[in-house]
Amino acid sequence: MDILFIGDVVGSPGRDMVQEYVPRLKEKYRPHLTIINGENAAGGKGITEKIYRSFLEVGAQAVTLGNHTWDNREIFEFIEEAKYLVRPANFPENNPGKGIVYIKLNQTEIAVINLQGRTFLPAIDDPFMKADELVAEAKKRTPFIFVDFHGEATSEKQALGWYLDGRVSAVVGTHTHVQTADERILPKGTAYISDVGMTGPYDGILGMEREVVLRRFLTGLPVRFEVPKSGRTQLSAVLIHLDDKTGQAKKIDRILINEDHPFYS
Ligand SMILES: [Fe+2]
Repeated sequence: MDILFIGDVVGSPGRDMVQEYVPRLKEKYRPHLTIINGENAAGGKGITEKIYRSFLEVGAQAVTLGNHTWDNREIFEFIEEAKYLVRPANFPENNPGKGIVYIKLNQTEIAVINLQGRTFLPAIDDPFMKADELVAEAKKRTPFIFVDFHGEATSEKQALGWYLDGRVSAVVGTHTHVQTADERILPKGTAYISDVGMTGPYDGILGMEREVVLRRFLTGLPVRFEVPKSGRTQLSAVLIHLDDKTGQAKKIDRILINEDHPFYS
């Protein structure tokens, strides 16, 4: 089984990259499952129903989220009906939505779990304990378990990768918007990368207008972050190959598309 995962889609430049390249990536790699992290998809913060649906229409079977899950208030109107939308599972118990979804694929199914780190991010429930609980639940149904761990600190992400090694098919990091070059298969068969990277503006700072971010650093004054409306763009992703019987990962490859790393079909 092959999984294509697209890293944090930022605003309309990121959405345009999804529309342009997800069909081409699917054509080239023929993944059985495509997952998109869409937590920055609506103007850099949150997601709308229209965007969620556009991701499904372009070929994603699941959409994961993160710390900006609730930042576009429209989500409260559709999250309960959005079957393939996954928000961090370790948010408070009373939050709307869900942290695990099961995607049917021919004779089998795959569990897609979203968790969020606690280092340099708001205090929420323990992602390690929540992972134990959800992995035990998912194991009863399938050996294919995919985890998007939305976190700031590489140490916390590596820790969860090692903690879940051999128990899940993949732990991929999101949130920092910078692709790390540490993709690997851990010894017991879990594919791991600290961060898949971002899909959106190439010449901003973490996908935001760079003049505004610079002003913040230079003056310390409050600024309003905006997604650049034009300019060069990029797409960041990983392709993971799993053993069809055991669900163990055999291969993980980084994908980066931008002007310095052109796409070849
Ligand atoms: Fe994030």
